[in-house]
Amino acid sequence: MKKFSIAIDGPAGAGKSSIAKILANKLGCIYIDTGAMYRSVGLGAIKQGLNYQDEEAVSLLMPDLDIKLKMSEEGQQIFLNGHNVSTEIRNDEVAAAASKVATYTKVREALVESQRTIQNETSVVMDGRDIGTVVMPNATLKIYLTASVNERALRRFKEYEAKGIAVDLAVLTEEIVARDKQDMERKISPLKKSDDAVEIDTTYMTIEEIVERIISLLNERM
Ligand code: DC
Repeated sequence: MKKFSIAIDGPAGAGKSSIAKILANKLGCIYIDTGAMYRSVGLGAIKQGLNYQDEEAVSLLMPDLDIKLKMSEEGQQIFLNGHNVSTEIRNDEVAAAASKVATYTKVREALVESQRTIQNETSVVMDGRDIGTVVMPNATLKIYLTASVNERALRRFKEYEAKGIAVDLAVLTEEIVARDKQDMERKISPLKKSDDAVEIDTTYMTIEEIVERIISLLNERM
């Protein structure tokens, strides 16, 4: 198969990472979870005791953050300055910090550069908010995944439930709405559908159906 790249963008909870993981597995290529990279910057700022609302402080911290994605038997793991932070980045505080630091130019420049380096080298499925618009404007296939806010909040609710964590669905819904707003309204690289992306509303679709649809779209383009 010749080299290809799939860009998957969309709001929080639309199913991007679950789908991107399965796709990469089936297609035998690497998967880059760019949200995990922004989350690692947010976590790095919190761990340093910085106020992540302070753009200058977070920008100055960037050269000291070494963020690496590595494949392992348990799936992809993310390392921040040599420590595996794959679990630690998955909480609401880090999600809110990630959404904030993602509005800073210096943060985006650094992360976009490393994302582009990876995609130049190999076939990739990359998911995020600005992949089709900024990181890989020439991607073989661009997908924009959506789902209703209620469905996305419910999916997050079930993920927490499965981990035995008690959360309030109304609070989760509010957090998702706030994060969507921040991600869509920021000045640099806001979340938006690239003109040439295929939009898939996943509200009433199973993961298998979505994966099949994307693979058939990729086959058409190759
Ligand atoms: O996909 P996620 O929920 O793990 O992403 C966390 C935050 O990172 C999200 O609210 C916005 C930001 N992000 C971004 O700005 N650009 C990306 N390519 C990926 C994530």
